[in-house]
Amino acid sequence: MIIKNIASILGITSPAKSRLEGVEMASVASIDDAWLRTGGETITDFGPMAEMPAPAEGEEVIDACGGMLFPSFCDSHTHIVYAGSREGEFVDKIAGLSYEEIAERGGGILNSADLLAATSEDELYRQAMSRVDEIIAMGTGAVEIKSGYGLSTDSELKMLRVIARIAESTPLVVRATFLGAHAVAREYYGRQDEYVDHIITDMLPAVAAQGVAQYVDVFCDKGFFTVRDTERILDAAARYGLRPKIHANELARSGGVQVGVAKGALSVDHLERIGSQEIEALYGSATIPTMLPGASFFLGMPYGPARQVIDAGLPLALASDYNPGSSPSGSMKMVMSLGSIKMKLTPEEAFNAVTINGAYAMGVESETGSIAPGKLASFFITRPIPSLAFFPYAYTAPLIARTFLRGREV
Ligand code: NIG
Ligand code: FE
Repeated sequence: MIIKNIASILGITSPAKSRLEGVEMASVASIDDAWLRTGGETITDFGPMAEMPAPAEGEEVIDACGGMLFPSFCDSHTHIVYAGSREGEFVDKIAGLSYEEIAERGGGILNSADLLAATSEDELYRQAMSRVDEIIAMGTGAVEIKSGYGLSTDSELKMLRVIARIAESTPLVVRATFLGAHAVAREYYGRQDEYVDHIITDMLPAVAAQGVAQYVDVFCDKGFFTVRDTERILDAAARYGLRPKIHANELARSGGVQVGVAKGALSVDHLERIGSQEIEALYGSATIPTMLPGASFFLGMPYGPARQVIDAGLPLALASDYNPGSSPSGSMKMVMSLGSIKMKLTPEEAFNAVTINGAYAMGVESETGSIAPGKLASFFITRPIPSLAFFPYAYTAPLIARTFLRGREV
């Protein structure tokens, strides 16, 4: 098909560009008054309207009516496979309890694990699919999804099979991450070392044998897993070819960033509490720092020092963290707004953080995350808007008019 009358195609990169760092994040390459052609699932060509080729016999022509064309968002950190919801804890937080206090009382992740254990695999898929439909409607085209509400071999595998089913049954690009070390399972209360042993000797081999995860995650933070636990799990996972993408420095200067970089993590995520030592550790590494401003907003935590990270010349990705406890939203548009409003990213930096850098953070940058010939035709067209900056500025306006994933309108 050919799309005409696009006010601006945003996020054009060379197909070989894998991520944007430091000052590179300040610009978004674009073509104004443009057309774009797709063939099958991919983008084939694009250019200015003055040079639009004649449509081929039978080729569908779509009028963008002066809207902008954005590459679909790449949400590199979510937990969208979960059962039920946790608005009871939301009310507890309003009354003054902290995330850690709720977790210490057996709420939090363990509450979601109880709900998940009592939910059938089909029902879990059904509930997750309603969130999948929601994020597609909000512009997401690629999503990383974690396990971590199972906390037993069977339930972790159940979650990972649901993720695989989402990958097969939707046009999203999906990557799955095994997060057995999200919290110590209830049965292992007071026996954290034994739970880590259980992950290493039982869960990891089962997950690897079924081929249902590409990445491994550990919640390396105060009150959860230590640096030593993290090293043990990441070393064991490396033997199965699972690369780390870890939770680090949400609740404390946990050492999570340093251990993630040392173990070759693709990304270290959260980073609400980092300083110059963590930035130093990231410098020159392949690990992309990823921040989750929705969690800061929802839990009332400090925002990660995104400005400092970019000003140090590092790349930055932003993701939603969509989950029932710390960020019950998958709106990447809101993530861009929070990036700009609270973290002081320019709209261009926020855009790059949720597209090409998000793609890098989930290892799909050769397929998607920008507009380039050969990449997936996964993008959306906005209502006519005056500028890129209008998109995060109008922070609740539904500005997406039409969405295409893998070359088909959804
Ligand atoms: O990324 N911090 C750890 N895990 C999730 C929250 C999980 C939950 O509360 O259910 C997060 O914020
Ligand atoms: Fe998370």
